[in-house]
This record gives sequence, C-alpha cells and structure tokens, in this order.
Amino acid sequence: MDELLKIKEEALLKIHDCSSLKELNDLRVFYLGKKGPMQSAMKSMKDMSKEQRASFGQVSNKVKQEITQAIEEKRKVLEEAEMLKKIQNEKIDISLPGSQLPLGTIHPLTMIREELEDLFIGMGYSIAEGPEVESDHFNFELMNLPKDHPARDMQDTFYIDENTLLRTHTSPVQAHVMLAANGRGPIKVICPGKTYRRDDDDATHSHQFSQCEGLVIDKNITMADLKGTLELFAKKMFGEKREIRLRPSYFPFTEPSVEVDISCYNCNGKGCSMCKNTGWIEILGAGMVNPKVLEMCGFDSQVYQGFAFGIGLERVAMLKYGIDNIRDFYSGDLRFLNQFVRKD
Ligand code: FA5
Repeated sequence: MDELLKIKEEALLKIHDCSSLKELNDLRVFYLGKKGPMQSAMKSMKDMSKEQRASFGQVSNKVKQEITQAIEEKRKVLEEAEMLKKIQNEKIDISLPGSQLPLGTIHPLTMIREELEDLFIGMGYSIAEGPEVESDHFNFELMNLPKDHPARDMQDTFYIDENTLLRTHTSPVQAHVMLAANGRGPIKVICPGKTYRRDDDDATHSHQFSQCEGLVIDKNITMADLKGTLELFAKKMFGEKREIRLRPSYFPFTEPSVEVDISCYNCNGKGCSMCKNTGWIEILGAGMVNPKVLEMCGFDSQVYQGFAFGIGLERVAMLKYGIDNIRDFYSGDLRFLNQFVRKD
C-alpha cells in the first residue's frame, strides 16, 4: 500500500511540474501503462491474502483514477496554454498594408468603343454585331460591289476560299440588320467590330483594325439628319468647339457619299503638323444609303431612305489621345497601356 501511495505522490508531483503535452503523454504511458511502477506493485498481489488483495485492489484502482484525473486536468491546462500561444503567434496586424494585386487598365480602343456606344445608345441606337468571317455576298455584293468592281481593289483582303473572307469593313452588318428587319423600318444601329485588309502596315495603317458602322433607315431621312448626327459625334468625342466639314466622295454603297473632316483640335483650325496645315482632320466615311443597297436588302427605296457612316476606331483614338503609331495598340506594351486609366 505504501508503495502505491508513494507512486501516486511521485506521479502527481511530476504531472504538476510537467510543462508540455508530450511530457504529459510520456507520464501517462509510464504510470498507467503495462510496464509502469503500478503494474510492478500489483505483481505483489499474488502473495496476499484474499482480504489484503481486495483492499489493495481498491486502493490501486483509486490511485489509477487519481492519476488519470490529474493527467486529464493537466492536459486541459496545457492545451489551453498551447492554444493561447498559437493564437498570440498567429495574431494578424490589420494595420499592415496588404499585398496589392496588379489591376489591369481598359485598352484605349475599348475605351473609345464604349464611349461611342454610350453616345449612340443615348441617341436611341442599339448595337448590332456581325461575323468577322464573312461571305463575299455580304461583304461586297450586297454593298453594291459586284465581282470585278474596281473599288474592291481598295480593300484587297484575306480570302479563306473564293466566297469567304475576313470582312474588310463593318458595312456588311448593315445588310444583316436590314434583311432581318424584313423591309420594315425604322432601323437605328451602330456596329462596332474588327476588320481586316491586306494593307501594308505603317504608322497609321494596320492589316487588322476596328471600325464602327452606323445605320439609320426610316421615312423622310435626309442628309441634314446625317450631318446633325455627325456634328454631335464630333463635339462629344473631341470637344464642343469642334466643327465638321463634308467633302464629296465615293462609296458604292452610299449615294451621295462624303468624307467627313473635323476641325483640328490641336490648332483650332489654324494649321499645324497634326492636320498637315489644312486645319482639318479626316475622320470617317459616310453617305445616304444607296437605293440599290436598300432594294437588295429588302427595303422599298421609294418609301425608305437612310444614312450610314463608318468610323475608324484607331483613327479616333489616335487623334483623341495624340498617339502617333497605330502599332502601339497591338504591341501589348504595358508602358503604353498603363497610361489609359478610365476616369469614371
Ligand atoms: C469604309 O470602310 C466604309 N465602309 C465606310 C463607310 C460606311 C462609308 C458607311 C459610307 C457609309 P474606308 O475604307 O474609308 O471606308 O474606311 C473607314 C475608316 O477606317 C477610315 O477612315 C480609317 O479611319 C479606317 N481604316 C481604313 N483602313 C485602315 C487601315 N488599314 N488601318 C487602320 N484604319 C483603317
């Protein structure tokens, strides 16, 4: 019995003094395991009388219980201390600046496209899209450019097969929209998108560029409507002081056709290097929809008239932001792109 009590006292002392869960576990294995002092003490039971054995058994069970309980209580204390230490070590300093994720910017061509979309949606237009891989029929024939028409040469392009090509302008979307309308107006759409021509790349030309087509079809549409619309476009895109000038031109799909210039915003029309000393900068092609195109696309040209325009988006962006090389739009150079941060 004395042996058992000695073991208990020694065990409780060691449990009290122990400072880690590992140490505590070792104590548990030692005192309660099969090879510990308790088991050795129990071996003496075989030499005891029945009564002695019974009371020895009771005491040894009690000692085991007390040691177990002491271990459990100590475990809780140590676990709590360990958790506290962990929490303290893991404390987050919320006043530290976070690691910044690099944020992208909007591509200047996207900015111009969105600006145009907002402007025209505000005037009641909707946005139409067409395929970039187009049929010869839509890209040329429905635009009044039959096979062997000399004006096709100006848009010498990428053919996929004899009748399929990468569209050379956004004008074929006009035909898609008109045919879908089944000869009934009004139509008021803009069609922004990519276009392709086998042009030699230089500072202002690229083999792939973007245009934004505009098309209005209704009864009693006149050239005055076209002029008013383009004047508003010029002022909103380039400033209230801008004026526009229409020069006679030729497009097979419009009659009459015009090239549209805006007064140079760099010199206010006085003449500078940007406008090649003319005071004017060419910005887009436009005209009244050719009655032949109206008829081919299912509209009665005696009842309906319309106007159309085609804006080069790179050209607008270059003029607006003073960019002197069209290649900058496609090079992916972050030094160029990071300059364009949307202000809204
Ligand atoms: C056309 O493409 C006509 N479809 C525009 C039009 C639509 C006229 C509706 C009348 C009615 P043009 O080939 O001029 O027209 O091109 C229009 C604009 O696209 C040009 O003013 C220019 O800004 C741009 N553009 C043309 N070719 C290139 C090129 N290789 N690289 C960059 N921009 C170009």
